[in-house]
Amino acid sequence: MLNGQFHHLLPLFFLALVTLLHNGNSIGVNWGTMTSHQLPPDKVVKMLRDNGVPKLKLFEYNERIMAALTGTDIEVMVGIPNSMLRQMSEDPGAAASWVYNNVSGYCYDGGVNIKYVAVGNEPFLQTYNGTYLQYTLPALQNIQKALDESGVKCQYKTTVPFNADIYNSPESNPVPSAGDFRPEVKDLAIEIVQFLYLHDAPFTVNIYPYLSLYGNDYFPVEFAFFDGLSKPLRDGNHVYKNAFDANLDTLVYALNKAGFPDMEIIVGEVGWPTDGDKNANAKNAKRFNQGLIKHALSGDGTPARKGNIEVYLFSLIDENAKSIEPGGFERHWGIFEFDGKPKYQLDLTGLELEKGLAPVEDVKYQLTRWCILDPKATDLDELPESVSYACSLSDCTALGYGSSCNHLSAKGNASYAFNMYYQVNNQHIWDCDFSGLAILTDDNPSEAGCQFPVMIAFSRSSLLLHNYDSLLDVLLRVIGGFIVQRGLGWETTGFGREQGALMVEARSDMALEELGDFVIAYMMAMVLCSFLLHGLLLQNRYIGNEPEALLGQGNFPALEIHQRSNTDVPSS
Ligand SMILES: *[C@@H]1O[C@H](CO)[C@@H](O)[C@H](O)[C@H]1NC(C)=O
Ligand SMILES: *[C@@H]1O[C@H](CO)[C@@H](O)[C@H](O)[C@H]1NC(C)=O
Ligand SMILES: *[C@@H]1O[C@H](CO)[C@@H](O)[C@H](O)[C@H]1NC(C)=O
Repeated sequence: MLNGQFHHLLPLFFLALVTLLHNGNSIGVNWGTMTSHQLPPDKVVKMLRDNGVPKLKLFEYNERIMAALTGTDIEVMVGIPNSMLRQMSEDPGAAASWVYNNVSGYCYDGGVNIKYVAVGNEPFLQTYNGTYLQYTLPALQNIQKALDESGVKCQYKTTVPFNADIYNSPESNPVPSAGDFRPEVKDLAIEIVQFLYLHDAPFTVNIYPYLSLYGNDYFPVEFAFFDGLSKPLRDGNHVYKNAFDANLDTLVYALNKAGFPDMEIIVGEVGWPTDGDKNANAKNAKRFNQGLIKHALSGDGTPARKGNIEVYLFSLIDENAKSIEPGGFERHWGIFEFDGKPKYQLDLTGLELEKGLAPVEDVKYQLTRWCILDPKATDLDELPESVSYACSLSDCTALGYGSSCNHLSAKGNASYAFNMYYQVNNQHIWDCDFSGLAILTDDNPSEAGCQFPVMIAFSRSSLLLHNYDSLLDVLLRVIGGFIVQRGLGWETTGFGREQGALMVEARSDMALEELGDFVIAYMMAMVLCSFLLHGLLLQNRYIGNEPEALLGQGNFPALEIHQRSNTDVPSS
């Protein structure tokens, strides 16, 4: 019967559908690692597979992430940071060894499915004052050459992720069809386009309608989203219903004018943050990202270019060590919280499946313990100073205007700041002190909408990497643990509470005389360690306990600003 015949074709149809999704018609994600505490890469990769994420973009080669990706079929774009461009441009040997160690070495059956190498990240950003202009093309050429000569069977392509500020439309005629490359970088940009085109490689651009809204109070909010509720922007026969299409088509026109109407385009970053600004919340983020995914995979394309749009969402997980120069929202772009919990439901297939995102499983946390302002504290003169100190060395972006914890009182602010500082520093007891204003609590101080996080446990593997911070920390914990295990009942209650002395409080059931010499020796070692560690921490605040920190990436990064293109704003 007919029915029966079609029945067994159905699985084939789904197979075809899945294959289709894997051939570029799918949504990728950016995985940045500028965090004080990184989730174990293997657990994150498992989550990516659980969620069927087919494509991943990394800002930098990371050995542990590569190890976790080994044996998966996740397609990877791996970046070369701007800081390496100069070396790559001047030294073909450095480019070759980068390729050999970081890319082609993974080309084997059961290796890593690397497809693209991204040379630099937004290297022409105006904020960089032209620092990377002269290095980008030569670095690209050297990397391409090294890939060509790597002699492996894998096919790699290069690209350069550009910020959308590389092109714009004149203020007098702010429509996509008037788009062109910015005059100062036009010749260089076209040379790069030519090179990429010759190598059948894509042009990559990062597009942020959110930033258009953030920077401009007159920006029509609805135009940032994909529901078509905004007054459209007319450009000849084309009608633009959202900022994303208008921006992307400005590039399409710029490429057309340069003679590359069929240049492949990848949107390397696009997304919406969830905190740190009045427009940054989970509701808007879900609305934007879900609308974007549906649009990108619909095949409708933009008015100037039909077909699916290849996009990588920014970003996978929150990064609490990013520079907040652009705004507090910079640390809240993740679809997932710092601990791998999904912030909202998102259907990455665009098929409107009512399936939630799977979290990162089996996450290890530090103790369920918080550091807050002592409710009994009365002398609050030093409070503002302590709060700004704690915030400058941790992450208080949730306290800012329009953010999730903005409603807290001044005392609530202080508790929030103390806790963040304490958590980010791995709950060292002496990091919950603040001139005696802070105390520890087991009662979760979080309230509706305002989370006081407990950090995830730091990875043990960092010990192998000569991380003195954690070495000292472990030493201290061992000593501390020893004292506790000896049942002596002593507690350190903080460092520097009075004139910088380490205070030790004896419980009533203990007498000082009972302390053996060996314990005194250990305690002296402990005091020494705290001083040492405190000094280290002062110089090296907010150091991550992860390899990234040691590779020079984990601390507050170089400025990473996403500027707007003029054409984001429709004429009204
Ligand atoms: C591999 O990439 C990392 C991170 O960018 C870099 O530090 C390292 O030098 C690279 N390896 C080689 C051999 O270039
Ligand atoms: C760019 O120039 C401005 C103004 O001269 C300066 O304030 C800024 O620090 C420079 N930025 C970089 C990345 O060099
Ligand atoms: C709490 O801190 C934020 C950010 O520093 C500030 O904007 C707000 O005014 C503070 N609230 C109070 C009541 O002091």
